Amino acid sequence: MPEPRDAAKQPHPLAGLLDRRKLPRHVAIIMDGNGRWAKARGLARIEGHKSGINAVKAAVEAAEEIGIPYLTLYAFSVENWKRPETEVRALFKLLEHYLDREKKKLEGGKIRFRTIGRTADLPPRVRSRLKDLSLKTGKVEGLTLTLALSYGGRSEIADAVKTMVEDARHGKLDREINEETVQKYLYAPDLPDADLLIRTSGEYRISNFLLWQVAYAELMILDTLWPDFTKDHFYEAILDYQRRERRYGGIVDQD
Ligand code: FPP
Repeated sequence: MPEPRDAAKQPHPLAGLLDRRKLPRHVAIIMDGNGRWAKARGLARIEGHKSGINAVKAAVEAAEEIGIPYLTLYAFSVENWKRPETEVRALFKLLEHYLDREKKKLEGGKIRFRTIGRTADLPPRVRSRLKDLSLKTGKVEGLTLTLALSYGGRSEIADAVKTMVEDARHGKLDREINEETVQKYLYAPDLPDADLLIRTSGEYRISNFLLWQVAYAELMILDTLWPDFTKDHFYEAILDYQRRERRYGGIVDQD
């Protein structure tokens, strides 16, 4: 039976509760718990990652619906290379398939896609797809979806310092180095500070994610395992964020 017209365009039930003036500019997510989700079902870990893709789609769709300008997903850390080769290989195959399946939608849509991390270390087949998609969507105005791949917050800062020193040697750097200078040398200099950092699976850790950018982020730890993450969780996280008072080290009644 055909779907009722415009059924897919119905606003989310929580959409009306959002305060459009207080939306976070940048939401970052540590997608954790795929392995535990699979284990609880007697499945191989990779099945958890596979189901995690549905949660990725839900998060991206929710961010687009709400009008969040930047969404960054921690898909593979520099530390994840320590995992068994079979899992690493399977993860990149999954990513490759995801990119192939979503290619049309991402290319024709309103998403600017890009990556951060030591992407030169990724398998060539994945790298070429990522590069292609980043080039094709580079000028799109809409949600900037950043996948952190072979990413580490410390590596990002170390890589920034390395390039900065090289530039200084070649006389390409001003004498004064301040926070803006460092920001310019990060993987994606235009990526704003994260306003909201969501982590699933109940772990209270940053795990080397966006260390520079989370300085003043509001943290949201959900017990939900990543494959069970839905649009509802995303909307609820934004509503919770909007109830918080952000002081950035100042005080509320300052005059
Ligand atoms: C953490 O769960 C998750 C990862 C290391 C990979 C995340 C990958 C996906 C969600 C799928 C592919 C991604 C995209 C963007 C298409 P874990 O394995 O550490 O879980 P555990 O802590 O329960 O073992």
